[in-house]
Amino acid sequence: MHISFEISETLKITRQFTYMGIIKLRYQEVSDAERYFEILSNPNFLYFEVKVKSVEEEREWLKKNPEKREKGQEYNYAVLYDDELVGACGIAMDTRRPHIGEIGYFLDERYWGKGITTAAVKQVEKIAFEDLGLVRVEIRIEPENIASERIAVKCGYTKEGSVRKAYERDGEYRDCLLYAKVED
Ligand SMILES: CC(C)(COP(=O)(O)OP(=O)(O)OC[C@H]1O[C@@H](n2cnc3c(N)ncnc32)[C@H](O)[C@@H]1OP(=O)(O)O)[C@@H](O)C(=O)NCCC(=O)NCCS
Repeated sequence: MHISFEISETLKITRQFTYMGIIKLRYQEVSDAERYFEILSNPNFLYFEVKVKSVEEEREWLKKNPEKREKGQEYNYAVLYDDELVGACGIAMDTRRPHIGEIGYFLDERYWGKGITTAAVKQVEKIAFEDLGLVRVEIRIEPENIASERIAVKCGYTKEGSVRKAYERDGEYRDCLLYAKVED
């Protein structure tokens, strides 16, 4: 009786203090292509516009990253969890209004719900405001993407409204929610 009480207390504590691994960002590398293709081939990425047809297509996309950084267009980071590549988080600049950037992200489904993307967004946002000198950072989210909206809320973004037919996915123009944070 006494032992079983101790076990249930231990379980409660384990649930409250889930192990949180170390989350790091680094620039994406061309050699990440296979792993990204694997992550992005997930049919459960329901509200995500990026579709990659092959490892080769992913490799070609990754090769363009250094040039995009040099031109101030995009800054894309690999998200590592305990040194394993698990996702991506990046900033796409509004090239006509260079004080504005949009944060985007995705994560291997096996790692969902651990707060990894929330932590990555917080780090990328620091880069956006402190290193790139942005004044406004946006996150655009399909209204059905509850997990993504939750990230924007947890990171302190303000909901500014809905942008109609903002982007195209699977041949259809779709609305999205606009969340943003501004530097005062
Ligand atoms: C969106 C995505 C990046 C989330 O990554 P993640 O690391 O699991 O996110 P986090 O763990 O940091 O936060 C997710 C939050 O949403 C919550 N959540 C997830 N699904 C939910 C649901 N169906 N209903 C309510 N809350 C939900 C989680 O509980 C968590 O909130 P909490 O910390 O308050 O409990 C991941 O699901 C993904 O890669 N999806 C496919 C690509 C995509 O949609 N990218 C975003 C495009 S805008």
